[in-house]
Amino acid sequence: MGIEQRVFANFKSRFGSPPRVYRAPGRVNLIGEHTDYNEGFVLPAAIGFSCCVAIASRDDRKLVLHSENFDETKEGNLDGLNGATHNWADYPLGVAWGLQQAGYRLRGANLYIAGDVPLGAGLSSSAAVEVATGYALLSNSDHAIDRTRLAKICQRAENEFVGARVGIMDQFVSCQGQAGHALLLDCRSLEYRALRLPARMHLVICNTMVKHKLQGSEYNDRRSECEEAVRRLSQVLPSIRSLRDVTLQQLTQHRGQLSETLYKRCRHVITENERVRKAADALESGETGVLNELMAESHHSLRDDYQVSSRELDIMVEIARRQAGVYGARMTGGGFGGCTINLVDASHSSEFRKKVSAEYHAATGLQPDVYICEASQGAESVAIAD
Ligand code: GLA
Repeated sequence: MGIEQRVFANFKSRFGSPPRVYRAPGRVNLIGEHTDYNEGFVLPAAIGFSCCVAIASRDDRKLVLHSENFDETKEGNLDGLNGATHNWADYPLGVAWGLQQAGYRLRGANLYIAGDVPLGAGLSSSAAVEVATGYALLSNSDHAIDRTRLAKICQRAENEFVGARVGIMDQFVSCQGQAGHALLLDCRSLEYRALRLPARMHLVICNTMVKHKLQGSEYNDRRSECEEAVRRLSQVLPSIRSLRDVTLQQLTQHRGQLSETLYKRCRHVITENERVRKAADALESGETGVLNELMAESHHSLRDDYQVSSRELDIMVEIARRQAGVYGARMTGGGFGGCTINLVDASHSSEFRKKVSAEYHAATGLQPDVYICEASQGAESVAIAD
């Protein structure tokens, strides 16, 4: 049974009534890492792993949430959602809080939540839960869906309710993803363009099996470092609002304003923005040969300047780059563990999976998961026949 049918059936046996079902995907980022909260550019795609939420109204103001993954039921009251309790329910309850803060009146509801996005792997299981829940709560309360607004509310929930200061990328692509396409997103204006991925190009995701934790302080630390760099640079460049506004030449000229660490953080963000634009051009013109170099540079910049890679991610990328049929390989997502993204020619992806698994196991003693994915559709309502 597919996950959609399962949440439908399990909701019915748990809560009695037939629910409506909504789905939102996780994502993989092709290039443009740690640029979103610097108002820069990213190039993510939604993937086939997703979170499904089955929902039906209640007569009171409660939200009763059951998580299949955690095998646990939690409750919240729509009139008293006032803070995180540091468990999985913070994500759906945070979204309910964010929606109400944004002026949406919500109905009480029962929700059954299940997902197959690997947890802690950097594939945005949290954005998938947030967006699927937000979509479900809005629809259940008869509100129209504004996808960009929903993405912003989910980001705010994660920033202010959960306490992880993430950017907009994950929630945005989970809302707006298009099958067969990556999205070139301007994280300042939120304008985006869907870029068709060549049919022969598989998105092969290699999970190092070392989990990251975004709530961990290092992600928030990187963000604070960028803010500190903007404060210092704006003393000599008063018109800048974020690192998006700084050129490499200006950075070099005003290096004296910054510590060595802050200088390196800025250099990553500024050069990474440039790489995103070049990668988007390459996809649009079909000159996929340059992706290899751009993705290698991105990985090195994340490893050396932004310092968010790990030994296992570096090993996985090294191994991938030696294989046949690879257009490019790099770490993806926030870092400190998680996954790599590999663009692999369809005719080589099975062989790639076998060889990378064996070589990574030999090098680290860990058995990796390797997922061969295609870019998928963003959040949607799922029709289930009762
Ligand atoms: C996490 C965050 C995103 C983004 C990436 C790094 O996935 O949720 O907003 O900052 O890390 O690119």
